[in-house]
Amino acid sequence: MFTMLRDVDTIDIQVLVDNEIDPISKSQSPAVVDATSFRLTELPRGSRGPAAMEMRMDNICCGAHGLSLMITAASGETKHTLLFDAGPEEDVFERNVKRSRTDLSGVEHVHLSHWHRDHSGGIPRAVRLINAARKEENPLGQPTVDVHPDRPIYRGFNAGPFIASLEADPTFEEIESAGGNVVKNDQSHTVLDGMFMVSGEVPRKTEYEVGFPRGMRFTGKGEWVPDELIKDERFVVCKLREKGLVVFAGCSHPGIVNICRHALELGGGAPLYAVIGGFHLADGDAAKLESSINGLKALTPQILMPGHCTGWRFKFKIEQEMAGSLVPCFSGTKYTLNADGMQEGQNLLKDLKSFQSKDK
Ligand SMILES: [Fe+2]
Repeated sequence: MFTMLRDVDTIDIQVLVDNEIDPISKSQSPAVVDATSFRLTELPRGSRGPAAMEMRMDNICCGAHGLSLMITAASGETKHTLLFDAGPEEDVFERNVKRSRTDLSGVEHVHLSHWHRDHSGGIPRAVRLINAARKEENPLGQPTVDVHPDRPIYRGFNAGPFIASLEADPTFEEIESAGGNVVKNDQSHTVLDGMFMVSGEVPRKTEYEVGFPRGMRFTGKGEWVPDELIKDERFVVCKLREKGLVVFAGCSHPGIVNICRHALELGGGAPLYAVIGGFHLADGDAAKLESSINGLKALTPQILMPGHCTGWRFKFKIEQEMAGSLVPCFSGTKYTLNADGMQEGQNLLKDLKSFQSKDK
């Protein structure tokens, strides 16, 4: 049983769902983050002269409002895979798994960042697909689905003249009947041989990160009550050898700076290296964006991979004020972080090699 985070050598992040796609832009930092988007399809030999591969439009993943990351951490011969959220819709999750040709058979642990449908909606199908992908010889049992115990009946927000409700999150029973072992936990804990740490509730320290303004929850007794803090949001953190902490945030309702500061408290003295996921600044005012970028700068991360609810204004601000650190997180793209650095395009080369070996 590991109580501390263990060093890993590589972290692969297959983005299965994000709001945005961009299969063309290259990684700005190829020496530290490899990014691969296109999946090529082999052409029958000689069918189009010497062309060997086809770039098909139906191999490009779709964007959707939400987040889902398949994260594989490796240390020597040991490798573990965690699914971080499953996006808003079951069909989107399945479509992007197929289009990105993602093998889900190794997913042991499913982490739900918080009870909001744009993160939880795909979970039942994800669990079914993971179980279906298990091979006979694969000794892995049903995946664990790690959730915060406080699941609201409904969440929503006060839109002024009316309350807007979100769809319900999947219930514990729905997740169990899909084949997931539900584990409820509101405390920080390590999982998968200490390669990942799941946080507990995040201490709210900054004065400018105030949760989800006008957020509400349905009590089941016919009334809606304020629920602005979204206390159930939990993040995941890994420790990349020689580099530092790699933080995965779902929607950052506790605030991206509060999340990173708490990750440093949990990380046993390692520096902050990379921050990936939703920073929830799309609806922030100029003062909040300014405070957030200053808060991040003070923590000196080397790589920022904002996606989902971050918003284009904050991505632009990162590019302006923290030049060289921005690697936007796009649906369908696979990113690799390597403790020893890497060569540009090494994942694409790996793909091509696997086609060539199949061809022999
Ligand atoms: Fe979200």
